[in-house]
Amino acid sequence: MGITGMIYMVTMVFSLIVLMLSSSAVKFDYFQFTQQYQPAVCNSNPTPCKDPPDKLFTVHGLWPSNVNGSDPKKCKATILNPQTITNLKAQLEIIWPNVLNRRAHVRFWRKQWRKHGACGYPTIADDMHYFSTVIEMYITKKQNVSEILSKAKIKPEGRFRTRDDIVNAISQSIDYKKPKLKCKINNQTTELVEVGLCSDNNLTQFINCPNPFPQGSPYFCPTNNIRY
Ligand SMILES: *[C@@H]1O[C@H](CO)[C@@H](O)[C@H](O)[C@H]1NC(C)=O
Ligand SMILES: *[C@@H]1O[C@H](CO)[C@@H](O)[C@H](O)[C@H]1NC(C)=O
Ligand SMILES: *[C@@H]1O[C@H](CO)[C@@H](O)[C@H](O)[C@H]1NC(C)=O
Ligand SMILES: *[C@@H]1O[C@H](CO)[C@@H](O)[C@H](O)[C@H]1NC(C)=O
Repeated sequence: MGITGMIYMVTMVFSLIVLMLSSSAVKFDYFQFTQQYQPAVCNSNPTPCKDPPDKLFTVHGLWPSNVNGSDPKKCKATILNPQTITNLKAQLEIIWPNVLNRRAHVRFWRKQWRKHGACGYPTIADDMHYFSTVIEMYITKKQNVSEILSKAKIKPEGRFRTRDDIVNAISQSIDYKKPKLKCKINNQTTELVEVGLCSDNNLTQFINCPNPFPQGSPYFCPTNNIRY
């Protein structure tokens, strides 16, 4: 290959890479709206939470996801400008606290936006839309998992539950679709740590969450004796 051929090839490869990096829409199959149960999150963490947890499911994040399990992450270079969410801050502090460190909410939100939210284009237009969408889902559309469980008489009393009781209670509120549960053994007890509610990739209808944690995974939820 001559020098012209080399230059040509290098230019082509370079252009292709630039094209790939600049295309803003990354394909994904569905959204998982992940909420975490604060006391179990604190129990799961190697260092204790700086403030006592509330007995509530609050937002972990809204995650564009793929059925094949290879979820898009950090789809574009973007940094959350806290000014864009000034008007949402009061609500976000309630529904989306940084449970591990309540003095660093913005750090948590920034990370979720960069790692997950920015991959939700075009359903999620921008950062402001990401955060307002989550507020709408949790509050207006009543996807508050604490509320959903409480309506089905499952309150955070630290009692032992069956997986079916938890799944059925949640399913009733999401068009009889299946949520994704995440459990963890803390202090020799299996605790319910997270619940994912799944919707299609334009957030118009609930779907069964794919990819339950399999038996053998540290996050597997057994049939019985799940504490919540
Ligand atoms: C997983 O699915 C997505 C969306 O359909 C696709 O873009 C991606 O290439 C797939 N990844 C793997 C490892 O199969
Ligand atoms: C979510 O539901 C719980 C349990 O009903 C309730 O205590 C909490 O205030 C709700 N959160 C919001 C922001 O509505
Ligand atoms: C672990 O469980 C034991 C027995 O129930 C209890 O006394 C202890 O306080 C627990 N420790 C933690 C860190 O929760
Ligand atoms: C959203 O996606 C679903 C399934 O992929 C499709 O049936 C529906 O028409 C879409 N709605 C809009 C408004 O694009």
